Amino acid sequence: MKCMWKRSLRRWLCMGLLAGMCMSAVGCSKVDNSEPASQDGAAAAPSPSTEPEASPTPEATPEAMPPIYEVPEAEAVLGTRLCEHYQGYFTVGTCISSSMLGNEKLEKLVLEQFNTVTCENEMKPDALLNQMACISQNEVVVMFPKRATDILDWAKEHDLKVRGHVLVWHSQTPDWFFKEGFQNNGALVSKEVMLSRMESYIKQVIEYCDTNYPGLVYVWDVVNEAFEDGSGEYRNSYWYQILGEDFIRYAFEYARKYASPETKLFYNDFNCYIDQKQTAIMTVVKELISLGLIDGVGMQSHLDVDYPSVDNYTRTLERFSKLGIEVQITELDVTTTGNDEASFQKQGEYYDKLFQIISIYEKLGSTNITGLTLWGVSDIYSWRSSQYPLLFDAALEPKPAYYGVLQEKQEQ
Ligand code: XIL
Repeated sequence: MKCMWKRSLRRWLCMGLLAGMCMSAVGCSKVDNSEPASQDGAAAAPSPSTEPEASPTPEATPEAMPPIYEVPEAEAVLGTRLCEHYQGYFTVGTCISSSMLGNEKLEKLVLEQFNTVTCENEMKPDALLNQMACISQNEVVVMFPKRATDILDWAKEHDLKVRGHVLVWHSQTPDWFFKEGFQNNGALVSKEVMLSRMESYIKQVIEYCDTNYPGLVYVWDVVNEAFEDGSGEYRNSYWYQILGEDFIRYAFEYARKYASPETKLFYNDFNCYIDQKQTAIMTVVKELISLGLIDGVGMQSHLDVDYPSVDNYTRTLERFSKLGIEVQITELDVTTTGNDEASFQKQGEYYDKLFQIISIYEKLGSTNITGLTLWGVSDIYSWRSSQYPLLFDAALEPKPAYYGVLQEKQEQ
């Protein structure tokens, strides 16, 4: 399967114009201060004029014709696996939800294309924490529900590695977890109590996985979304209110204490290409590196065809890689405007350009991407389904986006 990679590489190396553009982007120090983030963690597209471009792209010139993506019959796709295409460079995964299991066609597609999975919601604190048990035992009680173990069993059965998502997050973590007596209306607990709850939670979750599924969960998103977009300030979460800025370090200390030495520990966030936020993340990550507590940074990557520019995005991949740790693209999806051919073509072009540059950077050693996860398989199951962000349509047929990722297209 390396031949596919080599075939693509030959094409990239022929693309002197694009490579030149990439290299100029590498050295570009232009700062993007525009703030397009929406509350839900997804990038929103500002008007094109607010998005600074590092350099002209081939697509921007009037002479350049957009590529035409040939979308063959679904059968023709079989045998072309995304994960094999990038084998030796990074794993390629998807998130799945327990409701997807049992859908034969969908399961088959996941097994054909991907070699890692992330539980979309099933391993988040609100899925694992049991309030009644916490109240009655007056301590943190973690219980993996069937919908989580179903996915873990399925992944194990099919030899798929799992990204553990997520230990410490402000969202999808019940408020009562931070309150006296685990009561909905209790006062916030003291720092001492919260630290012991954090340690107990992290210990139980990691130990449950290591005991019941040894080696399956190979990476944990230890802390997710600690910083505000525009300001780069700490998000005013309960974690921050009770434990202060040190909550991130504590979380990594506990994760390191209980995880096996081979398990990778990641900080994960969205909109990492926004300057202030990127600086805040870099500062904390550098501190964690100096303490030997972190293995990588996860860029969620909820993108849109109009924002951020691929150059801006890939510069961020490179900056994080220069820290000397792993980088993973953990939740990639690229929204587009409509459910029509023109929108899907535009989206295909975005994915294509993104993967051209990612591939060049990886080949040149400018980035250290070890894993890439799409945030879903089909548009119909996406958390942003109204904007059709994924590689397969509602009928599970491949879209131009799929061929963009695979770097297979015909020039007009
Ligand atoms: C999303 C899920 O896809 C949705 O089903 C859920 O309703 C909300 O969370 N950042 C993350 C992911 O780290 O866990 C989020 O997943 C998307 C944003």
